[in-house]
Amino acid sequence: MEFTKDNISPYIIGTMRLGTWGSNLSTAEYERFIEGCMELDLIDFDHADIYGHYTTEEDFGKVLKTRKDLRSKMRITTKCGIKLISENRPEHRIKSYDLSASHIEASVNKSLASLHTDYLDVLLLHRPDYLFNPYEIAEVFIKLKKEGKVLAFGVSNFSPSQFDLLHSLTPLVTNQIEISLLHRNAFEDGTLNQCQRLKVVPSAWSPLGGGELFKNSTDSKIKGIQKVLAQLAEKHEATSDQILYAWLRKHPAGIIPVLGTSKIERIQAAHQALKIQLTHEEWYMLWEAALGREID
Ligand SMILES: NC(=O)c1ccc[n+]([C@@H]2O[C@H](COP(=O)([O-])OP(=O)(O)OC[C@H]3O[C@@H](n4cnc5c(N)ncnc54)[C@H](OP(=O)(O)O)[C@@H]3O)[C@@H](O)[C@H]2O)c1
Repeated sequence: MEFTKDNISPYIIGTMRLGTWGSNLSTAEYERFIEGCMELDLIDFDHADIYGHYTTEEDFGKVLKTRKDLRSKMRITTKCGIKLISENRPEHRIKSYDLSASHIEASVNKSLASLHTDYLDVLLLHRPDYLFNPYEIAEVFIKLKKEGKVLAFGVSNFSPSQFDLLHSLTPLVTNQIEISLLHRNAFEDGTLNQCQRLKVVPSAWSPLGGGELFKNSTDSKIKGIQKVLAQLAEKHEATSDQILYAWLRKHPAGIIPVLGTSKIERIQAAHQALKIQLTHEEWYMLWEAALGREID
């Protein structure tokens, strides 16, 4: 099951908050959560080596260790390249980015072991290392692919020019960026246009603003967004989170939200939101609220 624009799930399931950085699911709860997602045909799971201070891949992997049947039916993305200060990585003196071939390779080997799998469907470079050498990266990607350890490669948080540079040397399948009503750069900085031109998947992390859009806020723009969300939710007989997913999915680039919830009923609600179609004007009502004024 290749990760391409034509067969990607409508949502990717994020794992950042499933472990110690969030809900701290038990192995049985992970298993129920994974199965619940897969029953909805949501088979893409998004990891990173660093989640849970380098523990979440391992927690998720405990399920795969005993449930080999699940592995072949899912696609696993993981990321590398951020080095956190952590008691689980005592050799890191400061927080840094590292996209050297040796770090990428070592990180892939650790992720494979933690996840109890022989291959990663997609490996993402988590953030652009200011010192990255695209030729070195292209070479290590070829090696990892030849060894069968990684089937496809992508990036995260890369600017359009960084994406172009690497993509000219080695094929990339996605750029995972922060996109929500609170982070709208991708609509204006060429990122989404580039994905459309190259037919790569734009995936959106923190699609609900990391949950900020549901909190009581004194920020007038957030309050404005919440007001419009309530109006549209009523009109579409939906909830605010469902409207936010419909807002992202309306863009013709085919944005795939990376869901951050650890509650299966919220994943089910996201799935039901696939039938919501916002009108052009409704999309702009939310844009206007986020901008805090009428567009120019
Ligand atoms: N590439 C990168 O640099 C990067 C960076 C950050 C994240 N990511 C990926 O993106 C995924 C999603 O990011 P995110 O977790 O920030 O996404 P998000 O979906 O914007 O935020 C998730 C948060 O919102 C809460 N939430 C969801 N629905 C809600 C509702 N209806 N009412 C109130 N609260 C609600 C969730 O709590 P509940 O669990 O209680 O529902 C959770 O705390 C991550 O898991 C990770 O895989 C990637």
